[in-house]
Amino acid sequence: SLTGSWLLTGCNTHDMSNMDMTPGGENMGPAITEVPFTTPLRFPETITASGQLTASSVTEAILPGKSVRMLSYRQGALGPTIRVTNGSDVTLRFNNQLTEESNIHWHGLLVPAEMDGHPTQLVQAGGSFTYAFRINQAANMAWYHPHPHEKTAKQAFMGLAGMILIETPDERALNLPSGTFELPLLIQDKRLDGAGSPVYNPTMDDVMIGYMGETVTVNGIAGAFHPVSTRTYRLRIVNGSNGRIYNLALSNKAPFQVIGTDGGLLAAPETVTALLLSPGERTDLLVDFSKVPVGTDVYLTSETFTGASSQGGQAFNILKFSVNKAESDPFRMPVSLSTVTPLSTASAVKTRQFDIGISAEGMDGMSGMKGMHTIGGKTYLASRIDESVKLGDTEIWEFDNSKGDEPHPMHLHGTFFQVISRVGGRNTLYANEKGPKDTVLVMPGERVRIIAQFKTPGTFVFHCHNLEHEDDGMMLNFRVS
Ligand code: C2O
Ligand code: CU
Repeated sequence: SLTGSWLLTGCNTHDMSNMDMTPGGENMGPAITEVPFTTPLRFPETITASGQLTASSVTEAILPGKSVRMLSYRQGALGPTIRVTNGSDVTLRFNNQLTEESNIHWHGLLVPAEMDGHPTQLVQAGGSFTYAFRINQAANMAWYHPHPHEKTAKQAFMGLAGMILIETPDERALNLPSGTFELPLLIQDKRLDGAGSPVYNPTMDDVMIGYMGETVTVNGIAGAFHPVSTRTYRLRIVNGSNGRIYNLALSNKAPFQVIGTDGGLLAAPETVTALLLSPGERTDLLVDFSKVPVGTDVYLTSETFTGASSQGGQAFNILKFSVNKAESDPFRMPVSLSTVTPLSTASAVKTRQFDIGISAEGMDGMSGMKGMHTIGGKTYLASRIDESVKLGDTEIWEFDNSKGDEPHPMHLHGTFFQVISRVGGRNTLYANEKGPKDTVLVMPGERVRIIAQFKTPGTFVFHCHNLEHEDDGMMLNFRVS
């Protein structure tokens, strides 16, 4: 059957037999097994302001030569990349050919609440819905994925995701590397069986730390390489993994520039040698291959990092760049990229504080095996409005993970925000946080404060973007009115 029913029948009751809930204990995600980097990198087809996104079962190879069934929004790995200019009217028809309900959330687009893919706005199996909205925001990279509560993690893991690029005249005027020199990259780790098929079957351990895989993919391909010439490339990267954090770096240890983040360009380039990217986050990088001798390979890697007990202990390669051609580089780094006006904390009319992670309430309230992960001691209830925000108000929200053991990338729908402080743990903002954000990594031991002005009315969710945590209930509703 092409309906994909068997792709969606992952075990829904968790196996507790091997559970290790020791705080900071031995519960580690699977180690990455590298696949030889011999498959040419591919890019999903690009569509513009209108089209069809049909969720169904398709045949694709994640490992070379091993065609398997997975889910996608088109024939091929990942949905089409949507590339539009700001101001465009976008009309996307979603056809749900899965055997269960689904919907689409436009992660990083400021759309009206009724188009946002809220967990209550579901499209039944066999049904369709037309998402229509006008793009009205800065140039950025966004992405899209399903958002039906308790099914998001499985559907995204099985392949439902795609990239979005919003362009503006201001951004074009910067003459950043474009065309074949601009590479949209969606990174995900996958757990594959012997045949190379993605398998989604989380145990209690997986729910605790997120469903991590042993195989890293870029644009749906494991072991990908891409030929480059001796010049500057723009890498537009989204971490579309369920639970894995990457500490992005280059194998030749060369510094690179961060020029943008979730919601758009930074004010000015930031030079780094490594950058953490947690699930849901995007980054916009400039990588200069001009000093790399032709014939040399440079890998995009993930370096080890500390602070998250369940991951970060291993360095691994993600994607191979084969520098194969000398070419003069016309690119000149702009001194200034955009205007980022800091929201003044004095303008905030309210501060909300949320304890995040495993809570006593969550443990007590566990029904079946669900509901360990909480925000403010609560798990998700679709019918309950947890926070009410006055339209137009600026507020500070604090996510407090100071008693927690797991990293939580916290994501707000309906607005961008600025990160104002990180206390405990690293005590610093990352280069990727010096611009408009929609997802912020809160490591164990940390309290992170963000500031936002809530300009879009309606009911939205905010949640942990570790998708197992989210599906476990680590999500709340807020209403802006
Ligand atoms: Cu990318 Cu509410 O999610
Ligand atoms: Cu989490």
